[in-house]
Order: sequence, then structure tokens, then C-alpha cells
Amino acid sequence: MVTLEEIVSLCKRRGFVYPTSDIYGGLMSSYDYGPMGAELLRNLRTIWWKAFIHDRSDMVGLDSQILLHPQTWVASGHVGSFNDPLVEDSKTNKRYRADHVIEAWLTMHPDPTVVVEDMTIDQMGEYIAAHKIISPEGNALSKPKTFNLLFETKLGVVEGEKSTLYLRGETAQGIFTNFRNIVDSNRVQLPFGVGQIGKSFRNEITTGQFIFRTIELEQAEIEYFFDPEISDWQELFTAWKNAMWTFVTDSLGVSASHLRWRRHTDKERSHYSKDTYDLDYQFPFGWKELWGIAYRTDYDLTQQAKHSGADLSYVNPVTGKKIIPHVIEPAAGINRLFLMVLTEAYTQEEKRIVLKLNSKLSPYKVAVFPLVANKPELTQKARGIYTELKKSLSVAWDDRGNIGKRYLAQDEIGTPWCVTVDYATLEDDAVTVRDRDTTKQERIPISGLIAYFQQKLL
Ligand code: GAP
Repeated sequence: MVTLEEIVSLCKRRGFVYPTSDIYGGLMSSYDYGPMGAELLRNLRTIWWKAFIHDRSDMVGLDSQILLHPQTWVASGHVGSFNDPLVEDSKTNKRYRADHVIEAWLTMHPDPTVVVEDMTIDQMGEYIAAHKIISPEGNALSKPKTFNLLFETKLGVVEGEKSTLYLRGETAQGIFTNFRNIVDSNRVQLPFGVGQIGKSFRNEITTGQFIFRTIELEQAEIEYFFDPEISDWQELFTAWKNAMWTFVTDSLGVSASHLRWRRHTDKERSHYSKDTYDLDYQFPFGWKELWGIAYRTDYDLTQQAKHSGADLSYVNPVTGKKIIPHVIEPAAGINRLFLMVLTEAYTQEEKRIVLKLNSKLSPYKVAVFPLVANKPELTQKARGIYTELKKSLSVAWDDRGNIGKRYLAQDEIGTPWCVTVDYATLEDDAVTVRDRDTTKQERIPISGLIAYFQQKLL
């Protein structure tokens, strides 16, 4: 299996991901997405939106703000209980997640009777003390303390009169606080869902997991509202689990053998949830959560209604009955989908590294080259094809170095097809199309190229 170091190296080398503020030595748990990464992110968002919003008749989209009214986070319970247990290195004062420290220790000293997810903060402290677990720097650790993950910021210009706001810790609350607006301004009827993609922020203390766990993250969340007396929550829950699984295997091309469901234990489950499963992917550093699904009941709408005084009920148009809808929430991280598709696609062959990405995800669908550089008649012909293809596809141009190097460069960014214009093209108006995965080459007439690629991309 590919290592995380190999993925990190490819990402930097080929412009997928760079450390944020690289010239200043980076910023903890923060990454920027380069030209290739930006395209891959866009493709992931588009495929998710198409599958879960456009292709369904029971879903609508939303784009709410990162900064919401601060009461939102009091109502949701995040101000009170969105916490991580942290321990501090007694010498360096560096902070670590207590559960992560214990998990790392357990990989060296396996004990199947220990379930870290079920430990209270006091139990973690006792376990660390009893087993004399030390920090990665080799020093004693403090007792764990709770640490709130919400990012605070200030609104207002006058010093001393600024009010505290929070950068959203999940996109979900923007959906709950807009529930009344959405019902009143759209022809939606239960059961229906609202999906949204956007940035969330968490004051995460973590190291060495690349884009898996970052302080600024992108979520793709769905809140699916229903009347529990009419729709069976377990049936809806299963249907959504199936939709998530199928999306990952069929739309993103991930092998089912690299996926598994993991149910949260009673102690681990978030305060708002009656049942939670994680869809785990086998990342290079082990099985980890890719996508969560929770049955949040009517917790959020009830809490937001109570704290705001707004009426967040729904009136059944047939019976006239007024209810607070319940909700099932499939919540994915776009950055984790990104890391998963790179892990899945990374293939080391004898003479090349190739990203066997699903062509819908590839940053470029096609690359166009003149066989050799500095031959105006070839360059002009190839440039014409490039310009024409670019009208309907995302296309790369390369006329540097030799053709072998150009193929290798496109293989590493996952471009499915390379088109080469050679001297024969000037005679027969046909080009060579090379397939990324098989490296086989076909001769295709220029007049049929667009149809050829469109057919492949269906
Ligand atoms: N609204 C529910 C919610 O936020 P979550 O399990 O905390 O639930 C949902 O987050 C998804 O967001 C996760 O499955 C994961 O893919 C992603 N995610 C959460 N924290 C993250 C972080 N610090 N960095 C990157 N992705 C993260």
C-alpha cells in the first residue's frame, strides 16, 4: 500500500497540496490546494452536488455563512460540549490529544479490552498515569483537560465593545437555523433534505496526518428532515448508508474492500445523536472516519427554536398536524474524500507512478503535445487541437522535454488521455491517443476527437 509520505511528496511535486504559509515554515495542521488540487476539489464538490442534490427530487441546496449568530452555538451545545481532552508535555508545553496518545501507545502494547472511545477524561488520565505514557518528545504528560474546539473571533470596531463570534464548527447549524426560511420559500414537503458544502473550523491539536485532520476543513453535509410517525427512521438511515457507500464505490471508484462501517458506542456518540455510524476508509495510517451518519432526532430544531423563540415546526399539508421534524445527517469531509481518492488511485509501476483516478475526478481530462518542440508546423497543428478541445474539456498543454517525460508528468496527475501530434498528422489529420492506465495508443481522426472523449467520459 502507498505510504502517506509518498502521497505528501506527490502532492507537493505535482501541485496538489502545499503546506499553508510554506515560506514562513508552515502553519499547524493547515494546507493549501495547488492548481491540480483545486481542480480535484472542484470535481469532488461537483460530483457530490450532482449525486445528492441535482439527481434527487427530495433535496435542495444551501450556502449559509461561516459566521452565524453566537447563540446558534450555545443552542447546539457546541459552546458547552464540543471538546477534546488535551494533555501537555511537562517540558516543551506542546499539547496532544489524550485519546491519540493512548491510541499510539496501544499500537505498541495492544490490549483489545481497552476501548479508547469509551473512556472518560478522568479514565484517560488514570490510564496515562498507570502506564507511565510519555509524550512523543519523551517527557511526562499533564493530566488531561477539556479544550473547546470552537474558534472564537470578534465582531465590532470599538475596542472593549467587540462581541464574540465563532467560526462555524459544522455547516449543519446553518441548515437548522434556515429551516423556517427554506420551508416558507420553497415547495418542499417532508421527507426532504438540505445539502450544503462549505468551510468549517476546529481548534484541532494534531500532528502528522496531513489533510486528514486540519483546523480549516471543508464539509459536505446533508440534513434529511422527516416525520418519525410517518417515515421509519431506521429505513431512512439504511437508505442513506447505502447511498453513501454507493457514492464512494461507484462515483469515486473506491474498492469496497477498503471500506467498512463502524457503529459508535453509547459513550462515544455525540450529545445530539441517537445512533451514529462512521464509514471508515483504510487510509495509509489505518482505518479512519471518512463520512459520518447520525440520527440527530429533533434535537437541533428544538434547541434552535428554544433559544431563538422562532417557530421551527412543520405543518403537514394534508392532516394539518404540526410537528418538529426529525433529522438524519450524512456528513462528509471533502478533504478526506480528496485524501482517499489519491490513496486509492496512487499506483507504483515498474517505471512510473500513475494516479489511476476516475476520469471524472482527474484535474485534466486530456493533454495535447506536439511530438517534438520547436517545430512550428507541429506546434501550430497541436495548438489548434488544444484550443478546440478546451472549449468543452479541461485540457493541458505541454511542449517541453521529450515525449516520455511528458507522459510521466501527466500520469502523475492522473490525466486519462494524451494526444500527440506527429508528422503523420500533417498528412492524415489523425492523432495518437495514449491511454493512461494501459499506455496503449490509438490513432483517432481529429474530426472525431471530441466525440471520442465525450463517449469515454459518459
Ligand atoms: N455535523 C456533524 C459533524 O460535523 P463530524 O463527524 O464531526 O460530524 C463530519 O464531521 C465529517 O467532517 C467527518 O466525517 C470528516 O470527514 C470531516 N471532518 C471532521 N473534522 C475534520 C478535520 N478536523 N479535518 C478534516 N476533516 C474533518
